[in-house]
Amino acid sequence: MSIAICGGAGYIGSHVVQKLIEENRDIVVIDNLEYGHKSAIATPNFYRGNIGDKDFLKTVFKKHNVDTVVHLCAYIEVGESVLHPDKYYINNVVNAINLLNVMKEMDIKNFIFSSTAAVYGEPDIIPLVETSNKNPSNAYGETKYAFENALKWYSNAYGINYVIFRYFNVAGAHPNGHIGEDHSPESHLVPIVLQVPLGQRENIKIFGDDYPTKDGTCVRDYIHVCDLANAHSLAIDYLKKGGENTILNLGNGAGFTVKEVIDVAREITGHSIPTEIVSRRAGDPSELVASSEKAKTVLGFTPQFAELKTIIETAWNWHKSHPNGFNDK
Ligand code: UFG
Repeated sequence: MSIAICGGAGYIGSHVVQKLIEENRDIVVIDNLEYGHKSAIATPNFYRGNIGDKDFLKTVFKKHNVDTVVHLCAYIEVGESVLHPDKYYINNVVNAINLLNVMKEMDIKNFIFSSTAAVYGEPDIIPLVETSNKNPSNAYGETKYAFENALKWYSNAYGINYVIFRYFNVAGAHPNGHIGEDHSPESHLVPIVLQVPLGQRENIKIFGDDYPTKDGTCVRDYIHVCDLANAHSLAIDYLKKGGENTILNLGNGAGFTVKEVIDVAREITGHSIPTEIVSRRAGDPSELVASSEKAKTVLGFTPQFAELKTIIETAWNWHKSHPNGFNDK
């Protein structure tokens, strides 16, 4: 039996794949390479295709005798989702439902879904627990929440067992130096900040300094991509042992403002990293910080790279050695 990692050539997916390879698991990777990188995955079991394509999925799942699906292929940009919700609903909901329908038809029972802190929207209370109010402030979060709910009903009717992870802000790179973040165009804070010391941009634009936070900039909870990958491995074992459906936040429980992230990057890179305050970005909640206590209790999840400094250091090592990313497009 093998594990299918859909979206396995993306930033998070490639770290999940690497973790499962290190554990000698039987895996197969699916990615359409729209944003993913073939060079990011060190397995011959790779198929290029779309999760909206039923025949393609069925052929791969049958050939590799898949019993567990990890679904990481979604569009992820908050700002873009506000401007182009159509793109987000079609991929993050319609295509993802297609994947569930294939699982239903093939009687594949174990499913791990990458959801997001964006399902919560502007929080009432920090840290966020899994039962906190869900009121997404952008179409990205709405599409993830819509799919979470669909999954609940599919599970109820067709017996698909699931772990839903709500990722907070994922950053960092594998300490082996071979894989890291490479989005094009890049929209995430940590890689964009590091483009300044790399000489690829003059300054970092801070999207608003009038939020109700300690320095006026948005607060986020940063989690290392390898810790996230480890949580997926734990979830696979949990489901294979018959664990019940669960929804788990993945963060470190510590919030950092945009300005604090830039300060840590200054310390690590030794560069002054000039900033410019610009207007707020549509759809940004002011503060997102996780309680990950449930993931600790349910899965025994323990972050190994919890310090923001370590997260940015590993990211910096990757970007320094790969200033143009994978360069494989
Ligand atoms: N930011 C800037 N300037 C930039 C880029 C980002 O000020 O050039 C700010 C954003 O406004 C935000 C913070 O940095 O306040 C973090 O922004 P990111 O784009 O890095 O991340 P988001 O918080 O928007 O979203 C990310 C993922 C989502 C996930 C979410 C959960 O993209 O998939 O974290 O918190 F849902």
